[in-house]
Amino acid sequence: MPVIKYFEILGKVIESNIAQYATLRKITYDAAYTEVVRHLINNSNEWKSGRQPQIPYHDPLCRIAYLYGIAAANANLVEKAFRECTDLQNHIEELQARNDQVCVCAFGGGPGTELLAIAKWVDKNRPSLQITLDYLLLDKVSEWIESWQAIKRQIELRFRADMGSKANWPLTLNGTFSGIDITDTSGFANYGNVFGQDIYIMSYFVSEVFDDMESLKDFTKMMVAHAPINSKFLFIDRNEQKWKRSITEIADEAGISLDRFHDVSGNMDNDESKTDLGKIFDSVKWTPRLTWNAFWVLGTKN
Ligand SMILES: C[S@@+](CC[C@H](N)C(=O)[O-])C[C@H]1O[C@@H](n2cnc3c(N)ncnc32)[C@H](O)[C@@H]1O
Repeated sequence: MPVIKYFEILGKVIESNIAQYATLRKITYDAAYTEVVRHLINNSNEWKSGRQPQIPYHDPLCRIAYLYGIAAANANLVEKAFRECTDLQNHIEELQARNDQVCVCAFGGGPGTELLAIAKWVDKNRPSLQITLDYLLLDKVSEWIESWQAIKRQIELRFRADMGSKANWPLTLNGTFSGIDITDTSGFANYGNVFGQDIYIMSYFVSEVFDDMESLKDFTKMMVAHAPINSKFLFIDRNEQKWKRSITEIADEAGISLDRFHDVSGNMDNDESKTDLGKIFDSVKWTPRLTWNAFWVLGTKN
């Protein structure tokens, strides 16, 4: 059985966030949960609206709603892409052997979904070498820092409890958060050195910023220009033709050669149980997302 479980870790992160929020605002847990449900309903309507979603991620209870409702399924999907993509697996093992580390950038990484996914993939997969992950989370909402730090701590606590000292862990973590808005083109000149990463992941990012497609193209071009030759770009998004078209255009203009698109629809793995979310699950009576209808595609910088 894996040491890392999405719902268990997210439940712990949510519990400590809710406790801090309720104390700070002097409100009951139940009042906070009611607000979380309001955000779950609102966010779901925004994603279905057909226009660019307006999600108030700056609101702590909206971020808790994301951790509760979405993060586990997205992490499981990212893990699935890692499981299915042998090119990516080989790349990771080669990088670790050659550079003693693997540098990953989660672009629009939000709460640290991709970090959770990589931790569980490595935990289940146990590559021959210990992976040293250098993780850069890039997102315009700087408040996400609290959840990805909490996720990182929970991952480390679990590895320590199960395996003892760091030398025995399959993965060690270094992380940085960078608050970057891709529409703020005035800042581009300052970002060059941020983008020396080996692997870039955009999970449910293109569909979140589609009104800003030209900025996203410009940003990706600039990012690719600074990325090492042969660096990998993993795109994951909703299974709709328009996102495949957008990603193809982004990649073409930036000099990324895309492999074929892989459609994936399915459910979360059997080792995950939503009840592990704990207290909040018993209180809100809302089923978090457990399925997806998505695609993944891997690109390589030429
Ligand atoms: C749907 S979430 C995806 C989060 C994560 N990658 C996942 O798969 O769970 C989209 C993320 O994009 C970020 N975002 C939205 N607009 C952005 C922009 N203009 N620049 C940078 N990040 C942005 C949001 O803050 C949010 O964290």
